[in-house]
Amino acid sequence: MNSITPYIDILSKESHVDFSQYTEMTINRKLEEFITDEKIISPEEFRTKFTTDKMFHMKLLEGLTVRYTELFRDHEFYMALRYQVLPYLSTFSGLRIWSAGCSTGEEAYSLAILLDEYGLLENTTIVATDVNPANIEYGKLGQYSTHRIREYTRNYVNSGGRSQLGKYYSVRGGSIEFGERLKKHIQFQQHDLVKDEAPGSFDLVLCRNVMIYFSHALQTAVTARLAGGVRCYGYLAVGMQESLVNKAHQLTAIDNDYQIYRKVHKV
Ligand SMILES: C[S@@+](CC[C@H](N)C(=O)[O-])C[C@H]1O[C@@H](n2cnc3c(N)ncnc32)[C@H](O)[C@@H]1O
Repeated sequence: MNSITPYIDILSKESHVDFSQYTEMTINRKLEEFITDEKIISPEEFRTKFTTDKMFHMKLLEGLTVRYTELFRDHEFYMALRYQVLPYLSTFSGLRIWSAGCSTGEEAYSLAILLDEYGLLENTTIVATDVNPANIEYGKLGQYSTHRIREYTRNYVNSGGRSQLGKYYSVRGGSIEFGERLKKHIQFQQHDLVKDEAPGSFDLVLCRNVMIYFSHALQTAVTARLAGGVRCYGYLAVGMQESLVNKAHQLTAIDNDYQIYRKVHKV
């Protein structure tokens, strides 16, 4: 790890991602996986690739920022959204939703489908953000490999899906592509939770499976930022493995299993 630290510093400067706030365990584990995946056998080989190949920088950034995601990930969570949050959101006139740390966009498309089934999509804007610009470009395309579609269809059905997942995408070669009906409601943009303010105020903010990789101090700072982006009576959801490190910010847990909080003003 020590021999690679200078390269991570360079990557950090290039990408503006502040890795110093990620836990050391996360960085070490992700580096090991990256080195194995890339079949790198020595520090010299790492150095050569880093100094000669710009694509290698992109791959390393992807490896370190952990982009794993899926459609309707943690289907129980979407079930909780469906039955505990959407009935309240449906009383609002027009919705703004922020998917923070959206990776390649699967969470944003899942939300759009859920809202469509609830008749709420027409008046909704979903802002989907991630620190890694390559993820943002991927999300805009809305194209995903068909090889996980069975698993995704199962997730959708288990999340309480009322229709057919297939009606939202077309199949082209080995990919599915979501249609304009969903895409026009999703704005993808680059955003760093460590440095940037919330991109507006929202009725629902999701930041799932992102803060798990941050140090305690960073979790506290990012929680404040996320909470600052939630409107009064709006909701904040973090991942099922996560809980808010700091429950101030007028947030009250409405579901401890699925880590969903609501902002209620004290009187
Ligand atoms: C494991 S994925 C989670 C994706 C999705 N939220 C989910 O639950 O499936 C974590 C994402 O957080 C993003 N991320 C990491 N650090 C970030 C930061 N400082 N600001 C914004 N996004 C960040 C990564 O690029 C990655 O796409």
